[in-house]
Amino acid sequence: MQDGSGRIVVQNLTKHFGQVAAVQNLSFNVEPGSVTGFLGPNGSGKTTTLRMLLGLVRPTSGWSTINGQPFERLGNPGRIVGGVLEAQGFHPGRTARDHLRVYAAAMGVADQRADDVLNLVGLGAAGNRAAGGFSLGMKQRLALATALLGDPQVLVLDEPANGLDPEGIAWLRSFLKAFAQSGRTVLISSHLLAEVEQTIDQVVIISRGQTMFYGPLDELRKSQQSRVIVAPADPQKLAVALQEARITNVSPTPDGKLAIVGATIQQVGDIAAQAGVALYGVHEEKADLEQLFFRLTSGQYAGQAPYGQAPPPGWGAPPQQGYAPGTPPGGYQQVPPGYAPQQGYAPGTPPGGAPQQQWQQQAQWAQPPAQEQQAWSQQPSGPLQVQPAPPPPPQDPTPPSGDQSTPGAGGGHQ
Ligand SMILES: Nc1ncnc2c1ncn2[C@@H]1O[C@H](COP(=O)(O)OP(=O)(O)O)[C@@H](O)[C@H]1O
Ligand SMILES: [Mg+2]
Repeated sequence: MQDGSGRIVVQNLTKHFGQVAAVQNLSFNVEPGSVTGFLGPNGSGKTTTLRMLLGLVRPTSGWSTINGQPFERLGNPGRIVGGVLEAQGFHPGRTARDHLRVYAAAMGVADQRADDVLNLVGLGAAGNRAAGGFSLGMKQRLALATALLGDPQVLVLDEPANGLDPEGIAWLRSFLKAFAQSGRTVLISSHLLAEVEQTIDQVVIISRGQTMFYGPLDELRKSQQSRVIVAPADPQKLAVALQEARITNVSPTPDGKLAIVGATIQQVGDIAAQAGVALYGVHEEKADLEQLFFRLTSGQYAGQAPYGQAPPPGWGAPPQQGYAPGTPPGGYQQVPPGYAPQQGYAPGTPPGGAPQQQWQQQAQWAQPPAQEQQAWSQQPSGPLQVQPAPPPPPQDPTPPSGDQSTPGAGGGHQ
């Protein structure tokens, strides 16, 4: 039986498409009461992971559960998880309202719910219009409305901000936050950290199908260290003087300057003065989150060198957690304390909910792989499917933790 927890567990998920290792040994949990951002560049395996989670692709190995069950065993899954993988799957001639009524009928939900969710996503005035004439942003809203039909406990959205205008993004942000604060679970993917930064509490950052960072967004923020960049007349002499002052995190920059972590501008200036080294320039630099994200995920389509590099020493160096991809991340088995129990989430009136809580757990950093492992395909991903609240699949006798290579779901598998 499903445990009603609203928790998503992804464990050692792996998917190969022929030679392409789309997802490699991915493990993370998503807890109720929070919004988790699933981030990575194009082609990094986000959609494939979400498709496995929603029972649309059979994993090569590993498994995932929602409420303690594989998707295939959720009974009426549309009532538990609302999934949007692509906002293009509407019958072009069908009105938004009729589209929703078709899904409502398949799910055993009253017709009235179609109008409720249309209003909820701001499409109340467009219910009689054919979906084929909708803008991308309107299609995103309609897809979200479809996912919300079953009043689900868990939302899984693939790049939901794509095509939304700034107002739409702001609306989505407040909607998802309120949804999560009502005790529900939200997992959203994006290839742009900035797009979801203000929405998410936790991040899973992947590159080439592998985990690069997994933990609270605040941990990622804290890891951004500032550094002092200085242009000395004699870099070698200053480096020695800094060393003697126990400032050891000093590295040369490509343009002949020194980058110093763990000292203030004033300290560096004083030490340089005492050592008799002239300074031609000094300033403080701070990496923003986007830069860190880029460093963690760069090399997606490059050769060997930049692959999987953590930020270089002295520059946003990660805490030494030593999380090896494939090792089940520890510390994420508990619901973060302080999240409110699920409250009745009234459509159209997102509740204020519990105050945001800091995640208690430690972040998990990936160890960069020793070397390039995969010949990487640049082929674009195949056409995706909308899977908003599908009708229940046939019952599947495969246990959630048994041999997961054959979860035995219906015909959508590849
Ligand atoms: N059905 C498929 N057949 C072959 N390769 C695929 C298929 N779906 C995805 N891929 C490949 O898997 C990798 C990950 O793709 P995808 O999960 O769509 O990444 P993302 O959603 O992060 O952009 C890409 O190299 C993509 O080309
Ligand atoms: Mg994708």
